[in-house]
Amino acid sequence: EKGGFEWFMLKEIDEQPSAVADTLRGRHSPGGLLQLDEMRISDTELREVDKIIVIACGTSFYAAMVAKYAIEHWTRTPCEVELASEFRYRDPILNKSTLVVTISQSGETMDTLMAIRYARQQRARVLSICNTNGSTIPRESDAVIYTHAGPEVAVASTKGFLAQVVACYLLALYIAQVKGMKYGDEIDGILAEIGRIPDGIQRMLDEGDQMRKLATELAGSRSILFLGRHVGYPVALEGALKLKELAYIHAEGFAAGELKHGPIAVIEQGLPVFVIVPPKGRDQLQEKTVSNIQEIRARGARTIVLAEDGDEDVVPYADHLIRLPKVPTLLQPLVSTVPLQIFAAEFASQLGHDVDQPRNLAKSVTVE
Ligand code: M6R
Repeated sequence: EKGGFEWFMLKEIDEQPSAVADTLRGRHSPGGLLQLDEMRISDTELREVDKIIVIACGTSFYAAMVAKYAIEHWTRTPCEVELASEFRYRDPILNKSTLVVTISQSGETMDTLMAIRYARQQRARVLSICNTNGSTIPRESDAVIYTHAGPEVAVASTKGFLAQVVACYLLALYIAQVKGMKYGDEIDGILAEIGRIPDGIQRMLDEGDQMRKLATELAGSRSILFLGRHVGYPVALEGALKLKELAYIHAEGFAAGELKHGPIAVIEQGLPVFVIVPPKGRDQLQEKTVSNIQEIRARGARTIVLAEDGDEDVVPYADHLIRLPKVPTLLQPLVSTVPLQIFAAEFASQLGHDVDQPRNLAKSVTVE
């Protein structure tokens, strides 16, 4: 059933173009309204939403972090992101104008379920993004958007994550549409961009060999860092989590802008650092990230740079350069995550670890 792949994880990474395409399918007709699955929240209620809180654990939490950027940008509604295990212990301010969005691949994560129960007690509306039909989390929510990634077997989430990110974009666009912040043709334009993403993912898969080679070259590293800005920041966290889970080495993701506030002190000769460079254009994010690469390289880091086609600024500072297709800034996680997943799987495989069933981990965490 591994379809010729050594590990389920590699098979699931390979299925990502269809996971994304299937999650988009059937939800939109040109110029028409987006259709979501079980939406037991009326448009009137949605228009009254004045705060959105996105809650999840692990990799799903990083999808939530991406969601915040899309939701605030497209809907102009304040959005918070919270780890499910922390949410209800901080006495959060919720009422019936609060929309709580939870994200869970399995639909059975206990921390997330407890957050949902708490939110509903406080009269908030709960919408869940979930990959598992009929699981507990969608059953206990007011509304559901199913991701259509297909069953995920490997403990490390891959296609589940990409599908979650797509569902978050769909939700953000849906709210933007209901609130009148975005109209049909704008939404069509954004959806068309998302519709082209599966080709971009396919390209990252086709170029996967460079990640396999890199995994061999970096074998023996006991610590690897990941830097990103904007939506590249959750991608950095996700790249680090994959490596921790599978390779059992120290891996950490940082917001690139935080470097000089502390983390740069750990940079030493030969330390591998992945840097996800945002597309050029907005808020000088690209320029600022390039200068971060210069700073770490001057201190001896071995830089692995993920940058879009045509970005020549990074070339002098990249020990390894991974090219990404040109996509809008907000959508970049859908392509930039892929090489990091391949890298983690290959790195762990070369260490002789069980890539599908890493030590100490379970596929769904049904205890708090
Ligand atoms: O099923 P969920 O999405 O609720 O699971 C959340 C986390 O337990 C999960 O993403 C975990 O971090 C994965 N092992 C990451 O690869």
